[in-house]
Amino acid sequence: MGTHEDLLARHRKVLPSWMVLYYQEPIALVDGDGRRVTDAEGNEYLDFFAGILTTMTGYKVPEVVAAIKAQADKMLHTSTLYLIENQIDLAEKIAELSGIPDAKVFFTNSGTEANDAALMLATQYRKSNQVLAIRGSYHGKSHSTVAITGQRNWSSTSLYPFNVIYVHGGYKLRSPFGHLPDDEFIAACKADLENMLDVASAGDVACMIAEPIQGVGGFATPPDGFFAAFKEVLDRTGILFISDEVQTGWGRTGEHFWGYQSHGITPDILTFAKGLGNGMALAGVVATASLMDTLPANSISTFGGNPMSTAAGLANLDYLLEHDLQTNAYKVGNRLKSNLDELADRTEIIAEVRGKGLMLGVELVKAGGLDPDPAAAAAVMEEAKKEGLLIGKGGLYGNTLRIAPALSLTEAEADEGFEKLARAIERVAG
Ligand SMILES: Cc1ncc(COP(=O)(O)O)c(C=O)c1O
Repeated sequence: MGTHEDLLARHRKVLPSWMVLYYQEPIALVDGDGRRVTDAEGNEYLDFFAGILTTMTGYKVPEVVAAIKAQADKMLHTSTLYLIENQIDLAEKIAELSGIPDAKVFFTNSGTEANDAALMLATQYRKSNQVLAIRGSYHGKSHSTVAITGQRNWSSTSLYPFNVIYVHGGYKLRSPFGHLPDDEFIAACKADLENMLDVASAGDVACMIAEPIQGVGGFATPPDGFFAAFKEVLDRTGILFISDEVQTGWGRTGEHFWGYQSHGITPDILTFAKGLGNGMALAGVVATASLMDTLPANSISTFGGNPMSTAAGLANLDYLLEHDLQTNAYKVGNRLKSNLDELADRTEIIAEVRGKGLMLGVELVKAGGLDPDPAAAAAVMEEAKKEGLLIGKGGLYGNTLRIAPALSLTEAEADEGFEKLARAIERVAG
């Protein structure tokens, strides 16, 4: 029995059946360097999914590794009952970068928890349990975040703490308004939002939560300005806007540091996770002080913003900014996207290439139409793996390939990965 086969048999016995594993023959990744990883059987891959957009600056970045080691030599944990200098330093930097005035930061261990905290703040502040969410959304795995998950595949319960109203989002390809030019499309979605507030809410909605580009939803990308039109409606009655930047933050979209900036708005609350810790569990919520301080009871987070994860976050953020990886994401992402656009022109099973920067989606369909083809997406994943390329998958029907490498990806690596992916897609297209 090979190492992977053995691990899989043991995994199946003691880990939940609903914890998704990629590939017919799942693999364990045991080493990484830059944008490349090695599995437990010695196979090497170029990594275009980066631990679900999480190894943001790359594997084994010396500055990040050194910061983690230095902190580990001193102390692993203290808890938020004590002052943590790394946490304060990082909060200062994030507050400044967030664009939110008079910002405060609460650190958590995951994006789920960050969104939980954001929803707690918004619902307490507004004294309402009504929440607006976007069709096709994904915000996490807890009860409160599953409540605002607009995808059947990821909705594991209907026992929700909120009253949730779903509105149309920016996924044009399958929208009833998708045939309209962008400005009319935005106006139609805005009218839908207004209508839903009139017919489905009981007044006094607490907040809207949205991903600027939907992650698990298949990198569905609204036209620029989409959320400005929504915010105009929300502002009329003080409904708060939460921007879930778990996937879109830290310059990944290339054009901007935060996804919300494509829309010319500032959110009331912002959540982050994934990339900041480069793999260390580090996430959080940012809100203006009056909102953040709204909770009427004590709270703590035993692990949130601990000395280790914040040491990693500080070093990682410094590395990102010093190397201007946002500009790199813009440049390398555009190069990759234009290659993918050309491939789409000559490949019938690609319905659309979308996304921004190093967050690119390729939606696969049955040739000649728009019928989603999840089997093709699964087959491309397998073929790409044989080529030595790891990619991700998502979308409402599991038919969208997700490309989201570390933001330090070089042009040569982008070209190499594209060639591998193109061969994989062409083999599946037949
Ligand atoms: C946009 C978005 N929000 C929240 C989450 C939840 O983050 P976590 O898995 O760290 O709880 C995810 C995870 O993929 C996500 O993509």
